[in-house]
Amino acid sequence: MRRIVSETEVRPHQLVLPVFVREGLTASQPIASMPGVEQHSIESLRAISARAAAAGLGGIMIFGVPAVRDALGSGATDPEGILNIAARAVADEVGESLVVQTDLCLDEFTDHGHCGILDAEGRVDNDASLERYAAMAVAQAEAGAQLLGLSGMMDGQTRVARAALDEAGFTDVALLAYSAKYASAFYGPFRDAVESALEGDRRTYQINPANAREGLRESALDIEEGADIVMVKPALAYLDVLRRVADASPVPVWAYMVSGEYAMIAAAAQNGWIDGDRAQLEALVSIRRAGADAVLSYAALDLVERKLVS
Ligand code: PBG
Repeated sequence: MRRIVSETEVRPHQLVLPVFVREGLTASQPIASMPGVEQHSIESLRAISARAAAAGLGGIMIFGVPAVRDALGSGATDPEGILNIAARAVADEVGESLVVQTDLCLDEFTDHGHCGILDAEGRVDNDASLERYAAMAVAQAEAGAQLLGLSGMMDGQTRVARAALDEAGFTDVALLAYSAKYASAFYGPFRDAVESALEGDRRTYQINPANAREGLRESALDIEEGADIVMVKPALAYLDVLRRVADASPVPVWAYMVSGEYAMIAAAAQNGWIDGDRAQLEALVSIRRAGADAVLSYAALDLVERKLVS
C-alpha cells in the first residue's frame, strides 16, 4: 500500500556521481573531510567510472586537481591538463553508457582560486574571464565531455560557451548551467578535495543565500543563453528555490547535494549519531520531491551498489 501511494521515486539513472581526479597520483587517496570519497588517479577514475556505468547511474561529473596553477588557469584549456586527460579516459572507459560531464570552472586551475581571471586591482574580471570559458568549453568537448557543467557564475558564460561549441562543430555537446549557485559555507569540504587556493570568498559572483528571486532570474537568463539543463546548488538549504525554479523552467532542473551536505550526514553517521543510509536517502527523496529531475550526490554509487536505490 505504501509503495502504490508513494509520490516520489529515486532511481539510479536520476543520480550523477561527482568525482575528483588529481594529477600525479598513482593510487586513490581518501579526502579527510568527505568520508567515503577519494581523490582518484587516472586508473582508479577509470575503475570508478566503469562501476558507475555498471550500476546504471545517469552520469559522472569530473573535477580535476592540477599539480601546477597559474593566474590564467592555463591547465583548464591545455589538452594535456588533468581534467581534459581525465575526460578522455572516462569517455574511453564508459562510451555512451554514462553521461560524461566536466566541471567548467577556472577555480581549480587558478593560483588565486577564483572562478575568473583577475584585473589589475585583483578583482574578478567577468568579461575577460568569458574568453577563458569559451576556450575551456571547446577543450573539454575535444576531450570527449558530453555535458559541460558551467559552475563559474560569470555573467554570459552560458552564451559564450554555446557559441564557441557551435562554431567548433560541437553542436551536440550539452550545457548544464549552475544557474542558482549560492555563496555557500557548505562547499567547505569540496575546497579540501580540490586543494583550493582561494583566500576570501566568492560573494561578488555567487548568489546571496537570502535571495530566491535572484536564483529564478539567473536560471531564466541561462535558459535564454542556451542552457539545456539548469541547476540549483546547494540542494537541502535551497529546496524552496529548487521548487520555484522547477515550476518555472522549460528545461530539466537538477540539484547538487554538495560536499558539506554530504559530509554532515557522513560525519554524524561515523559518530553513531544518525542513521547515515536513511538520512542520505531521505535527503535524495526530498530533493526529488522539491522538483529536481536529477541529483548530484557523493553517495550515489554507494547507495546504488548496496541496492538502497534501485
Ligand atoms: C566550482 C565548484 C564548486 C563546487 C562545485 N563546483 C566550489 C565553489 O564554488 O567554491 C562545490 C561542490 C561541493 O561542495 O560539493 N568549481
